Amino acid sequence: MAKETVLTLMAKKEAGEKISQMTCYDYTMARLEAAAGIETILVGDSLGMTMQGYENTLPVSMEEMIVYGRSVVRGAPDCFVIMDMPFMSYQVSVEQAVANAGRLIKETGANAVKLEGGAAVKAQIKAIVDSGIPVCAHIGKTPQSANAVGGFKLQGKGEDGARRVLQDAFDVQEAGAFMCVLECLPSSLAKLISEKTQMITIGIGAGPHCDGQVLVAQDALAMGVDGFRPKFVKHFGQVGEAVQAGVKSYINEVKENTYPSLEYTYAKSDLTPDVVAKLDAEF
Ligand code: KIV
Repeated sequence: MAKETVLTLMAKKEAGEKISQMTCYDYTMARLEAAAGIETILVGDSLGMTMQGYENTLPVSMEEMIVYGRSVVRGAPDCFVIMDMPFMSYQVSVEQAVANAGRLIKETGANAVKLEGGAAVKAQIKAIVDSGIPVCAHIGKTPQSANAVGGFKLQGKGEDGARRVLQDAFDVQEAGAFMCVLECLPSSLAKLISEKTQMITIGIGAGPHCDGQVLVAQDALAMGVDGFRPKFVKHFGQVGEAVQAGVKSYINEVKENTYPSLEYTYAKSDLTPDVVAKLDAEF
């Protein structure tokens, strides 16, 4: 499959072809997602929770994003990879935003960056785009602002809420974003944004009318152990169960000494009984 570019992805929106996106944070999963044919991969700062066990995305650093991002690009060199800009890597100043977006692209080999916010980050988006880096915006629920907005909830509710989110969409489009994640929005509002803007809209908890969809891989593949499942998450595989079953059967076979049998043993390199006896006497 030929590598997607901003232009091929835009052409898919034009043609009404839906675009698939999934998060990914490591080499092994990147190889698997690429082999399955995913079109775009998001190295989301959700890795703070899924890979590092934090409660939210706020502690994730630039250095950490770069380590995970490089591994993903090495595993999926032919996928269009988008790097999340972590909390406080773009909010302080436009210069800081451009420098960090540049690092994410230069040091990982990814193709685009994503940052959260609407009007508040317009100047940052414009400057990053002007420096030649494609930008995916992210509006609606923006997890990096959880402390400011008092937790995670549906955004864009009511006429005023919808107007604010629509204005954000037009702001990030005007700044030059080619793609925009719409998180936790009423589906009628996501439809309006998808129809009224030229940006590729990628929904998560925003209904079926977006140009594409993204899910956190660990959610989509049921890799959690606590059974928690947000309403918009569908389990497309039972990877968590499969991993646990595999690990349990490994433990059992080790305990029962049925693994490794001869089939899994380098018998050819076995020492002859004579040599074993000699070594036994010597040591
Ligand atoms: O960090 C992330 O995984 C994201 C998606 C939830 C869109 O931003």
